[in-house]
Amino acid sequence: MKKTTLSPKISTFPMPVAVVSVGTGEEANLITLGYVGKVCADPPIVVISMRPSRHSYQLIEKHGEFVINYPTIDQLKAADYCGTRSGRDVNKWKELNLTKEEATIVRVPMIKDFPWNMECKVINKIELGTHICYFGEVIATHSDPEYVKTNSLDPKQFNFPTYIAGNYLEIKSGILGKHGFSEE
Ligand SMILES: Cc1cc2nc3c(=O)[nH]c(=O)nc-3n(C[C@H](O)[C@H](O)[C@H](O)COP(=O)(O)O)c2cc1C
Repeated sequence: MKKTTLSPKISTFPMPVAVVSVGTGEEANLITLGYVGKVCADPPIVVISMRPSRHSYQLIEKHGEFVINYPTIDQLKAADYCGTRSGRDVNKWKELNLTKEEATIVRVPMIKDFPWNMECKVINKIELGTHICYFGEVIATHSDPEYVKTNSLDPKQFNFPTYIAGNYLEIKSGILGKHGFSEE
């Protein structure tokens, strides 16, 4: 197979479009992040990476907590807004008419209007280069019941946007097989 050699900086797979809440009370802010992923099953740990130049960086440093909120494809414009304006200049909650919902454990508010919210506590961080990587333990997950089947995300209902190479991408439901199907 003939191959083209590419920059090691290229991203291969789509990333999530996560709108992350940081800070509390009137200071609470929203930032869109693509660098988000699950890295441990038990305890459930996710990582998020943020540039220190972001307004949100001060707030995650101050409180050590964050909430990952996933928008639907219909809510993508709000997610793009949160990723192109700074909380230094605008109140993104007010501008987008989003409602703060009290979280069950962390003090950072969740976005009531988004169907999937994960409360996280920072347990570690690594300064990698351009970005600071925060490890967060997920201590509570909340979902619109429409997305849930047998206590898990129903892949047939998945309609969250993803992000690759500067573009938003829809994942069309097309289940290829169940884990372990090669053993059958
Ligand atoms: C789709 C998308 C993904 C982004 N991913 C990240 C990311 O992973 N890390 C980061 O530091 N900034 C990321 N950004 C940029 C921030 O969201 C953006 O700079 C934002 O305006 C910062 O807001 P703040 O200053 O209120 O914290 C992303 C933006 C978009 C639109």
